[in-house]
Amino acid sequence: MSEPQPTYLSDYRPPAYRVTHTELTFDLDPSATRVKARLHLERHPEHEPGAALELDGEQLTLKAIAIDGQPLDEDEYALTDTGLRVHRVPQRFLLDTEVNIAPEANTALEGLYLSNGMYCTQCEAEGFRRITYYPDRPDVMATFSTTVIGDAVQLPILLSNGNPVERGELPGGRHFVTWDDPHPKPSYLFALVAGDLKKVEDGFTTMSGRDVTLQIWVEEENLDKTDHAMASLKRAMQWDEETYAREYDLDLFMIVAVNDFNMGAMENKGLNIFNSAAVLTHPHTATDAAFQQVEGIVAHEYFHNWSGNRVTCRDWFQLSLKEGFTVFRDQCFSADTNSAPVKRIQDVSFFRTAQFAEDAGPTAHPIRPDHYIEITNFYTLTIYEKGAQVVRMLSNLLGWEAFRRGSDLYFERYDGQAVTIEDFVGCMAEVSGLDLSQFMRWYSQAGTPEIDTQGEYDYAKCEYRLVLRQRTPATPGQPDKLPLHIPLRLGLVGTKSGRDLPLTLDGESLGSDTVIHLREEEQEFVFTDVSEAPVPSLLRGFSAPVKLRFPYGREDLAFLLQHDSDDFNRWDAGQRLAMLALEDLIAAHRNGVEKVMDTRVVEAFRGLLATETDDKAVLAEMLTLPTEAYIAEQQALVDVDAIHAAREFVKQSLAAALRDDFLRLFEENRSDAAYAPEPEQIAQRSLKNVALAYLMAIEDDQGIELARTQFAADHNMTDVRHALTLLVHSSRTDIAEPALKAFGEAWAHDPLVMDQWFSIQVTRPQPDALERVKFLMDHPAFSLKNPNKVRALIGAFAQNRVNFHRLDGAGYRLLADVVITLNQLNPEIAARIITPLTRWQRFEEPRQELMKAELERIRAEELSPNVYEVVEKALA
Ligand code: ARG
Ligand code: ZN
Repeated sequence: MSEPQPTYLSDYRPPAYRVTHTELTFDLDPSATRVKARLHLERHPEHEPGAALELDGEQLTLKAIAIDGQPLDEDEYALTDTGLRVHRVPQRFLLDTEVNIAPEANTALEGLYLSNGMYCTQCEAEGFRRITYYPDRPDVMATFSTTVIGDAVQLPILLSNGNPVERGELPGGRHFVTWDDPHPKPSYLFALVAGDLKKVEDGFTTMSGRDVTLQIWVEEENLDKTDHAMASLKRAMQWDEETYAREYDLDLFMIVAVNDFNMGAMENKGLNIFNSAAVLTHPHTATDAAFQQVEGIVAHEYFHNWSGNRVTCRDWFQLSLKEGFTVFRDQCFSADTNSAPVKRIQDVSFFRTAQFAEDAGPTAHPIRPDHYIEITNFYTLTIYEKGAQVVRMLSNLLGWEAFRRGSDLYFERYDGQAVTIEDFVGCMAEVSGLDLSQFMRWYSQAGTPEIDTQGEYDYAKCEYRLVLRQRTPATPGQPDKLPLHIPLRLGLVGTKSGRDLPLTLDGESLGSDTVIHLREEEQEFVFTDVSEAPVPSLLRGFSAPVKLRFPYGREDLAFLLQHDSDDFNRWDAGQRLAMLALEDLIAAHRNGVEKVMDTRVVEAFRGLLATETDDKAVLAEMLTLPTEAYIAEQQALVDVDAIHAAREFVKQSLAAALRDDFLRLFEENRSDAAYAPEPEQIAQRSLKNVALAYLMAIEDDQGIELARTQFAADHNMTDVRHALTLLVHSSRTDIAEPALKAFGEAWAHDPLVMDQWFSIQVTRPQPDALERVKFLMDHPAFSLKNPNKVRALIGAFAQNRVNFHRLDGAGYRLLADVVITLNQLNPEIAARIITPLTRWQRFEEPRQELMKAELERIRAEELSPNVYEVVEKALA
């Protein structure tokens, strides 16, 4: 087999032919679906007449081909592995093709496939070419008319994009529906669904008075799990009108839930398709976190209708144009509907753990990559989350009002077009008059910038001098980096007053919270008229996606934890304080020295527990220790066991010292109120459950009894799952096993709950976790063909750090075995699930060697382009 070849951004050429209208007819059959396509094609005026017509197509069986009604002779076209070329075509013409495809054989879940007897599609990025021959690229936009034909009994519901315009009976017990989508769209936004589905329906009246019908389509047994998604959809529609003046543009908006889906969801025009895990909720089956995630994803996909669909990407290198902007939009939406500081804390703590790791590893890439082998490998945290951070920086640089004008201009100017990141940033520069040329480096440079900061207070002059040095480490293919434009929000907190001090810079007074702009490699800022010695509060709200170092002492951090006016930085000070203690303990563990708990951390936590707070959700975050993954991210070389031991020690020390406080917190936040996924309740539950986790850390009788009771009360999934997890992760297997068994039996019928049941068991720190994974892979509810199951069992196990990184290499071997199987079944999922192995450089011997050996073993297989690209980078 020849090596997969990369595609380069610099090779971009506009298409020679455009499709003005696309007519499709699907005659559905599991092994032989017939797809007829009639494309209305036109040569672009600037292309010379001789240009051949090139269409993408994979895994298609061509049955017929004609131009303007004339069947083509075999020498008039050529078929290749990747498509179809017609040598000579007129300036404007109709192309008719007929192909056969086999949905039931499609385990990659790209293109048209079957999930639980239901037909559905996933076309982004390049799945449409597995449906029919087509210029499958986002800069070709056409109106679509789609007729779906299927068995009237098995497939009563036939859906596609736009509005239904015709339906009828056909001979042989079949029926059809024809759908019209008047909005020109690229092929990646095409969708088709057919099955025995039931709907819930609601409505929304847009700001200009248009009535939109809203439908959520599910399997019958899930009809009671759609309320929250529907409510979230309506909130999102309202929010986008109020915040961005964006209105929905069809009479019908549909969401469909499917069980087998590679990602979270997909924004197909008028017909969003969702992983059932990203849309279905019920108080008894979904946790608070799941409710919030559903709300965010429903909003995300809805927001794409403008940021993605009406204005789309010229090519896939511009993916962050729609994803970064849309993630920023959904983050703001969730912040507005929940606790804003907690939303920020959760987003940033995930970002600093997972995106930082990606940016420091062998697959690091810029927000706009300049080449790729397989585009599905680039639906990454960098494109999505770092892309969103960069849009957030733009909104802060311009201020909301100007940013909104920039966004209005962007939507107005480029409506119906496929554009680039320059076009987006250009609008922002145009409305604000700002020079954003240096800022553009954020899109082309990979790697996380590191800022080393020093601060000094001059008592005599009443000056505070801040020196900042930025440096972005080399990443694969990018040895040298240029300085970035980094907006740094900060304040100076007076050590006497505990208040933010007024800031004066170069004679200009800037209030008590300001943004300074770092553009050079090294820059000095001297704040004058600083009346008392301050502790600087830097990078407030995580104003830029950077690592910032400052030589804080533990007293400084305890002080900020108490006094910082920025909630995010208060939380961050607590995390930094805990990190200092954890680092000492990691060292102690490695040196075989007795571990001693830092009393300053205990006292800081005691202080937190003693203060009255109105934001319980923020307090819960402050009482939560950095995760093992985050701690690992801070280490030069990761010592898995020392990190685990140190963190357990801190947890137990805090629990022992503050047991009565945690008990009081638990009791105060207990509630029998009917479950609602609303901010106050969620905050209260999270605080109560943090307290319970500490109580269980010392596994005394009372803690165990509280967890057991909470599990047995069966009040809502948040509490049940938390209690069950604590029991299963404890050493009390005698109590855990019956609970686990009861839970598994009670929920055997519900795949989304079984996913949780799988994850809980295989993340336990006890040494039997790996054996459990192997055992559970044969469980009737498990299947390697279902991505949710793979993530719930294998993905979750790879997060179980002490067990995945077993010194006998059995964890690595198990993951590699799964990758090798999935490489054939579902390359996209294979290339994702392999990620932990690619981070081998971060670990000490012998783990490095063991991980590399597994990568080598995978490399020896016949690889899909997806896995090939990742493995080659990891071993480069
Ligand atoms: N555009 C979708 C979203 O962000 C994700 C599409 C994923 N495509 C893929 N091939 N994995 O909402
Ligand atoms: Zn998206």
